[in-house]
Amino acid sequence: MSIVYLNGQWLPMDAAQVSIMDRGFLFGDGVYEVIPVYSRRPFRLAQHLARLQQSLTGIQLSNPHSEAEWTDIAMQMAARADAPDQSIYMQVTRGPMAVRNHAFPPETEIRPTVVLMSDPLLTPPQSQVDHGIAALTAADIRWLRCDLKVTSLLANCLLRQQAVAAGCAEALLFRDGVLSEGSASSIFVVQNGELLAPIKDHRMLPGITYDVILELAERHGLPFAVRDISEAETRAADELWMASTTREVLAIVELDGRKVGAGATAGRPGPIFRAMYAWYQDYKNTVMRHG
Ligand code: PDD
Repeated sequence: MSIVYLNGQWLPMDAAQVSIMDRGFLFGDGVYEVIPVYSRRPFRLAQHLARLQQSLTGIQLSNPHSEAEWTDIAMQMAARADAPDQSIYMQVTRGPMAVRNHAFPPETEIRPTVVLMSDPLLTPPQSQVDHGIAALTAADIRWLRCDLKVTSLLANCLLRQQAVAAGCAEALLFRDGVLSEGSASSIFVVQNGELLAPIKDHRMLPGITYDVILELAERHGLPFAVRDISEAETRAADELWMASTTREVLAIVELDGRKVGAGATAGRPGPIFRAMYAWYQDYKNTVMRHG
């Protein structure tokens, strides 16, 4: 039975219970983080905690812990869970309310619910790395604060399910003809040897893996630009990638049933993806595992 953290206590998962009046349960009124752990070292914990703070500020919820307290809890979780490589899930909701009411309880009555869980970190199967994945496109039906990592994920769930039901691994989302991101990942486009990344603003989550990919591009001299990417450019891409903490970086080789790219690598992971994947694995094994 895996161990979870709930409001200061370490408990077996089936002993951890929250009130049905919790605003996270009734309204999806909460924020979360997913933090990768390699060889029991949380990767970029400070950046994840900074993003957690941005999400809390965005929903007007006071942070229940200092950075030092969060670090201590996360390090304890990384040490207690079974697997050396983990994905730590961290959630803060606005806690229980006395009666159901959309407006917040008075500040003095708010008792946030803090939950941490850990799963073994499952990186993508080698077949997905070697052969890539299929994706479909969809209208971005989410709200206009996609920069906040909030637990109200129904639109993301519907979009991911739409992809899975069509035999795809991800849905690429467009708002007003511009690429925002995937249902649970950042998306990159390669065109004429240049890496294109969407602008980190209210339309997308500021991904930690997104930052790593742009840093690796810079370090290895791969030209890149951060700008709006049109739907037409996405469809005409030489290469398309998805990236997240748990998927690392994967090539999208089929979009809406059509092969991505042209020539010899059409419908197959392209050369720039292969280079980025190798840089990422090297970075993981030399830096992420050793701090
Ligand atoms: N999701 N965009 C969205 C909408 C996401 O849900 C995620 C990650 C990302 C990538 O962010 P990062 O590189 O920091 O993992 C982008 C996590 C993994 C999840 O919800 O489980």
